[in-house]
Amino acid sequence: MSGKILIIDDEESIRFSLRGILEDEGLDVAEAESGEQGLELIGTDIPDMIFLDIWLPGMDGLEVLENVTRDYEGLPVIMISGHGTIETAVQALKKGAFDFIEKPLSLEKVVVSSRNALEFSRLRQENQALKTRITSEQPVSLTGQSAAIQELKDVIARVAPTDAWVLITGENGTGKEIVARSIHHLSGRADKPLVAVNCAAIPEELIESELFGHEKGAFTGAEKAQEGKFELADGGILFLDEIGDMSLKTQAKILRILQEQAFEHVGGRKTITVDVRVIAATNKDLTEEIKAGNFREDLYYRLKVFPLELPPLRTRTDDILLLITDFMNSLVKQHGFKPISFGQDAIRALTAYPWPGNVRELKNFVERMFIMYAGEAVSADRLPPEFKKAIEEQPAVVAPHTPETSMDDLIAGGPDDLKQARADFEARFLEAKLKEFEGNISQLAKAIGLERSSLYRKLKTYNIQTD
Ligand SMILES: Nc1ncnc2c1ncn2[C@@H]1O[C@H](COP(=O)(O)OP(=O)(O)OP(=O)(O)O)[C@@H](O)[C@H]1O
Ligand SMILES: [Mg+2]
Repeated sequence: MSGKILIIDDEESIRFSLRGILEDEGLDVAEAESGEQGLELIGTDIPDMIFLDIWLPGMDGLEVLENVTRDYEGLPVIMISGHGTIETAVQALKKGAFDFIEKPLSLEKVVVSSRNALEFSRLRQENQALKTRITSEQPVSLTGQSAAIQELKDVIARVAPTDAWVLITGENGTGKEIVARSIHHLSGRADKPLVAVNCAAIPEELIESELFGHEKGAFTGAEKAQEGKFELADGGILFLDEIGDMSLKTQAKILRILQEQAFEHVGGRKTITVDVRVIAATNKDLTEEIKAGNFREDLYYRLKVFPLELPPLRTRTDDILLLITDFMNSLVKQHGFKPISFGQDAIRALTAYPWPGNVRELKNFVERMFIMYAGEAVSADRLPPEFKKAIEEQPAVVAPHTPETSMDDLIAGGPDDLKQARADFEARFLEAKLKEFEGNISQLAKAIGLERSSLYRKLKTYNIQTD
């Protein structure tokens, strides 16, 4: 075993015998006589695990435990309980202690318990390192074979080399940022910076200085002059992310700058001119925001020179497996993971699931699966519950289909029973028509010559979503 252990106990004989056992196992040991001293030691050098006496003079064991679990999440603590403190030990477990051992100390229990705790601590650290490494890389190429993504790539290739301003809209996680990056990458400004501003994250009172920069002493706290994002992006691209979350006041300021490409530092008098191409992005429906009085119409038209709408993942199910495979391959390549093989039933569940968090959710999902199941076969029952639910909710009578399946394919791969075939057809027909009528049931009923109520019943029978 290897690792750093801290023993917090006021009894010297206990510290002595624990140190003996642990050092024999090859561990580094530090000691503290009190809770206060223990916390101080943890503050300067975080151990891999702690042995902590329940009864201590001054700050008692439970209080020390509370401090540790609050400030050092995941650091395992093993409580040492004397006679009559077993109940307290149980209480400690509820408060997040990893385990407890009783006095007199049993050598075997000490060894087993520390081995478990160190293993836990190691796995946790590994997972954390993995997560930070995984999230730091940022590709610029878009994965996808669906018609929607192909078209998107075409449009990007056409608009990128121009100097047109672009407004990207789409649900969370559909790839707005990656699209902005790929426009930058393919533009004539690729060797100049892409400066991103998250409009939702900057407090109202700081946004001006953030965007336009400020002079020394312009406001309290402005100890030195600073350039704003507009200057930093000069010659390049300014990416205004989450533009729908900007306050009306800031919108007014921004509008003027966007029109004139000229501004002054906060607290300054000199007019600065820049050459900046703007790409804006939002997950809000800006026309709705305009109606609600939250977004300026003039700013909207100024930004929306070239609108790009990103489709949600659930409308391009063809891309789901491709994205999963792609993310898996890059994790295998980068981190040497062994690939996961998903069973047929798992694949069905993954394509049936609506992915409300879109590609971001899918990417996180793949990373999570690798942390748990690298190198293994994964069937549907090993997937998180939301996927099982998705497959249960999938209409049973409707044959799995893609927009490309022809009538012949349907017949060849379909049921032999006429009644079932008719039901399959009816379900597909109604689903398609409902889309065509944008979910308007009354209009659809009229168009296909059915009573509204019986149409409703049929939709329910076939489990077709009507929102
Ligand atoms: N078509 C795609 N191919 C490969 N990776 C993609 C694709 N679309 C999105 N991603 C990845 O999914 C994640 C989320 O994408 P991104 O941050 O661009 O979404 P977003 O629309 O800006 O989301 P939000 O609205 O939540 O800010 C990123 O890691 C991105 O690299
Ligand atoms: Mg984004």
